[in-house]
Amino acid sequence: MKIKVLVADKFPDEYIKQMEELNLDVTFSPKLGENDLPNSISDIDILVVRSTKVNAQTIANGKNLNLIIRAGAGVNNIDIKAANQKGIYVANCPGMNSVAVAELAMGLMISLDRKIPDNVIDFRNGKWNKATYSKAEGLKGKTLGIIGVGAIGKEVAKRALAFDMKVYGKDISRIEGVMIKDFSEMNQLLPMCDIVTIHLPATPETKGLFNKTMFDYMKPNSLLINTSRQDIIDEEALLKAIEEKNIRVALDVFKGEPEEKTGSVSSKFQSNPNVYVTHHIGASTAQAQNSVAEETVRIIKDYTTSGVIAHWVNRAKISDAKYQLVVKHFDKPGVLAHILDIIRDNKINVEEIENIVFEGGIAACCTMKLMSSVSPDMIKKMNESPDVLSISHVVI
Ligand code: 3PG
Repeated sequence: MKIKVLVADKFPDEYIKQMEELNLDVTFSPKLGENDLPNSISDIDILVVRSTKVNAQTIANGKNLNLIIRAGAGVNNIDIKAANQKGIYVANCPGMNSVAVAELAMGLMISLDRKIPDNVIDFRNGKWNKATYSKAEGLKGKTLGIIGVGAIGKEVAKRALAFDMKVYGKDISRIEGVMIKDFSEMNQLLPMCDIVTIHLPATPETKGLFNKTMFDYMKPNSLLINTSRQDIIDEEALLKAIEEKNIRVALDVFKGEPEEKTGSVSSKFQSNPNVYVTHHIGASTAQAQNSVAEETVRIIKDYTTSGVIAHWVNRAKISDAKYQLVVKHFDKPGVLAHILDIIRDNKINVEEIENIVFEGGIAACCTMKLMSSVSPDMIKKMNESPDVLSISHVVI
């Protein structure tokens, strides 16, 4: 039976074809929304989405669901906690749409400075106002603060340097792959910046980061751009900062953004002349979408041919294991069963296990991450098998 893939979002036709060529049973339903997914998932093995929400109900109804791919960067539209409980892999396509987001950030920067959207609206309404629109600062020599210097932030930096801007970055800190909260220098960075652009993921650490304190640090009349996630900005504090400090803002993301691709929209920002809002289009260029789609197909191909999940985001970063046992052995049936029997009899939980075979298929090496320590007596018993070559046991 063929593996069933559901692509529940816009996706380039050429890459749907490439999936079909992998001998997969592909359903392409770009109009499915959050509430349609629970009824469309029952026999699906692999689900591909962009911003469509994958909620706990979809995950519960996905009896065969094994892999969810976010055809994009941010995975905050997927209920990862629910996926973790059912052992469903979640993967994304990091970096593939970075250039598109950086291009939009630069576009918004120039739009804010030259008031391009207002120029156009006035022209369409038959109004000529060169007097007002001639007043702009220009980007050359301005100080830009990039908040979050990951793949997108770096692309913004390259482009801003080409515009002769003074570029500063505030990175988020990571320790062994885990993000920690460190926004300690914002009090020094923000007061210097003429323009601030946010490129952070939505995490518990970044939620509400741009609050009253941050807006207090910002210069009056400065520009703020957010093409990342709406969660990062406290919108009430932003409205106050706009009023009190004349901060001007361009947002590609905001609270209450519609899930549908077309329809009506209502937001408190609509009546605010200091705010430009675009339609969450950061990643929406053909270049970015092709590159995301290519990566999605690659993830599916790797998974279906070798079981390896590229860009697997919900793998435990640090397991609770405290001990490592490495057993080198002859690659024969029953050797590992002998070792695992001893571990089971002593009620030790194996957190992770990997068995790798040496060239020629004679010897193999099995590495296990364990919750409790293996006693010398147990190691003695393991060594009783003539097929065990060596055993090492260390605290990790
Ligand atoms: C992303 O996280 O990749 C962007 O927000 C793009 O979202 P989209 O795929 O809905 O355009």
